[in-house]
Amino acid sequence: MKKTIGIILFIMLVAGGLAACGTSDEASGSSEQDKKVLKMATSADFPPFESRDNEGNFEGFDIDLAHLIAEELGYELDIEDMKFDGLIGALQADRVDMVMSGMSSTDERKKNVDFSTPYHHSGEMFVTTSDSAIESLEDLEGKTIGVQLGTIQEEGAETLSEEYGFEVKKVDDAGLIIQELNSNRIDAGYMDKTVATGFIKEQGLIGFDDPTTSSPGMGIAFPKGSEMVTEVNEVLEKLEDEGKIQELEEKWLSDME
Ligand code: ARG
Repeated sequence: MKKTIGIILFIMLVAGGLAACGTSDEASGSSEQDKKVLKMATSADFPPFESRDNEGNFEGFDIDLAHLIAEELGYELDIEDMKFDGLIGALQADRVDMVMSGMSSTDERKKNVDFSTPYHHSGEMFVTTSDSAIESLEDLEGKTIGVQLGTIQEEGAETLSEEYGFEVKKVDDAGLIIQELNSNRIDAGYMDKTVATGFIKEQGLIGFDDPTTSSPGMGIAFPKGSEMVTEVNEVLEKLEDEGKIQELEEKWLSDME
């Protein structure tokens, strides 16, 4: 009997806990506390934009910028880590209020989500190990190139592979591309130049720019029709005027050019 009550209590607790998780309504101010909660999602596998420090805390350019935005608008920031290829879906399902994840504001994505004005621009780069003979697109023939699922590089690599005759290997974590490279399971990784440059410096790798790239800048993504786009754009402009964005660039991106 005791056991049954225990089980019922447990189920009630779990159900209650799930119900308390709530949706993203908080951003419109319906939270019980005074401070409204701004739910942001990211894929924290992308230094210097978003990653986790040794204690598991989020850090990076996007994280700092998100905190500044939340502060300006009077929100408490709640960050959720998820796979990059699930971010757009989370916005479409209104599970989060915004996404900051080094996400390039492509026309394709604009069909499903809205973007802020771009806050950073990065080209694309191929990363290889320092002993690699791959130095240009022509050298990629017959090789295997790693990309992250759901990124513009996944699509870009598919297109380039037809012309240059390489295999595309898709992984769901940007850090995994580097692991795969270091353990010789792929011949090169293809990613945003700013991020590639960080990995190259940190891990003694080398690489070369993709001369064909024409990707758009990174923006903050919102559910389609979100009222936040305008206010966040205003905050971005204010932070720019106050030199706060430049401070963050200095802090996170200055070594990445
Ligand atoms: N800029 C690329 C894109 O928008 C890659 C972004 C990957 N971001 C990440 N946090 N892993 O598709």
